[in-house]
Amino acid sequence: MAKLVRFGVSLEKDLLDDFDRFIREGGFTNRSQGLRSLIREQLVKREWLKGKEVAGTITLVYDHHRRELVTKLISVQHDFHDAIVSTQHIHLDHNNCLEIVVVKGKPNQAQELLQALKATKGVKHCAISMATTGNKIP
Ligand code: NI
Repeated sequence: MAKLVRFGVSLEKDLLDDFDRFIREGGFTNRSQGLRSLIREQLVKREWLKGKEVAGTITLVYDHHRRELVTKLISVQHDFHDAIVSTQHIHLDHNNCLEIVVVKGKPNQAQELLQALKATKGVKHCAISMATTGNKIP
């Protein structure tokens, strides 16, 4: 287990009150746990900004009856095959499909894939969850 280090933080009273509200509403056990979560969130954001290796998921929802849409989506994914680890397809109902595309690699590749999928006509929803490989986050 990693060594724990204590340090003091000075904050404006109002800011601390807001932080404590955030801790309560977020269901954190204490300030340290809340602060750790915020720091890790920022470190993951930095990985995406710095262009390091990242991991994440893209979620898509579309109507598979739309002409050529499935073919186009598969073609886009093949263009980015290096960045895609796996895909999962869920038939939501008679018309709608949900697809989860797991990406790993350079963040700009994942962003380009996201844009290409978003720009495909007929896609109802397309969003990315920026996660991390976990290798650089303690
Ligand atoms: Ni389907």
